[in-house]
Amino acid sequence: MLTDRFNRKLDYLRVSVTDKCNLRCTYCIPPAGVEYLSHDNVLRNEEFVRFIEFFVKLGVRKIRFTGGEPFVRKGFIDILRETRELFPDVVLCVTTNGVLLEKHLDDLQALDVRQLNVSLDSVLRSRYESITGRDALHDVLRGIRSALERDFFNLKINAVLLPELLDEIDEYLDYFKGDDITLRFIERMPFVKEGVDHTFLSSDNFIELLRKKGTIIRNERTDTNVAMMFDYNYRDCDLIRIGVIPAMTHKFCSRCNRLRLTCDGRIRTCLLSNLEYDIKTPHRMDMGDEAVLKIIEQAVREKPMEHGIDCSGEGDGCVSLQSTRAMLKIGG
Ligand code: 5AD
Ligand code: SF4
Repeated sequence: MLTDRFNRKLDYLRVSVTDKCNLRCTYCIPPAGVEYLSHDNVLRNEEFVRFIEFFVKLGVRKIRFTGGEPFVRKGFIDILRETRELFPDVVLCVTTNGVLLEKHLDDLQALDVRQLNVSLDSVLRSRYESITGRDALHDVLRGIRSALERDFFNLKINAVLLPELLDEIDEYLDYFKGDDITLRFIERMPFVKEGVDHTFLSSDNFIELLRKKGTIIRNERTDTNVAMMFDYNYRDCDLIRIGVIPAMTHKFCSRCNRLRLTCDGRIRTCLLSNLEYDIKTPHRMDMGDEAVLKIIEQAVREKPMEHGIDCSGEGDGCVSLQSTRAMLKIGG
């Protein structure tokens, strides 16, 4: 088992399989765009599988595939298939923007990839387009509906807390009325400075707003490492499961069990730190498994205790980050 200096057990690996995306969310991609990695710098399918093997043998029990957008990567399903064949018991999860979800549901179900997180910042067509740069709301909703109908997936919908969400919150909640689904609202992290409304909406303020519309009860039993959960009764809706991810105003570093593998083969031990450990180069130089293992162990040893972002502020929790990579390249 991988355990760091602070006795945190690192059994959750997030793998970014591509830095490319078929959307252009304003809070993720700067207006000028981002430079993509060259093909050669991105790990090949078999390299992903090989690295995953290292991590699972070291005790990783849950793997979440992210991007960019994982479904735009050719061979993504092959990576899932090979991982599943090697490790029937590992929990496999996918985070997607949902645009290409529907046509992959059969594969996901066959490979027992149950946990799907789908990003959805608006249920209004024109607003969805203005946030993401693409008129794709209906494709995403079709994917979500189809996933729900299968009664197989454990579905979470993620919305970034943008100020404009407040004026469509009734439509947003109504859309999921009666569904077996968890709605999660994530505080926006300031990865992009230009082209976004800089009004910061905190999870506390958001919960207060929900409280005005219905009965909201904190349900700590269903908390995850990053999400504070609530049961919500609203209008004539049955219970809605709501989560907030207070990424900016609260720290959950002490419970962090995550490791990240970027699509160019580097380990990151904290989303908000620029520490990176290259395992692709030693692997490609045939330096042997021992060399790769040593680097993984070093990364784990050096995982920061916590990030340095000031989380105390209510209104101005939103400081600019000096990140060397866009969110797109780290994979959330
Ligand atoms: N702040 C918060 N969440 C973000 N995401 C992307 N960029 C940001 C940001 N700046 C979210 C996406 C998706 C997940 C992968 O990360 O909306 O739900
Ligand atoms: Fe793509 Fe996700 Fe970034 Fe939106 S937030 S541009 S869907 S990677």
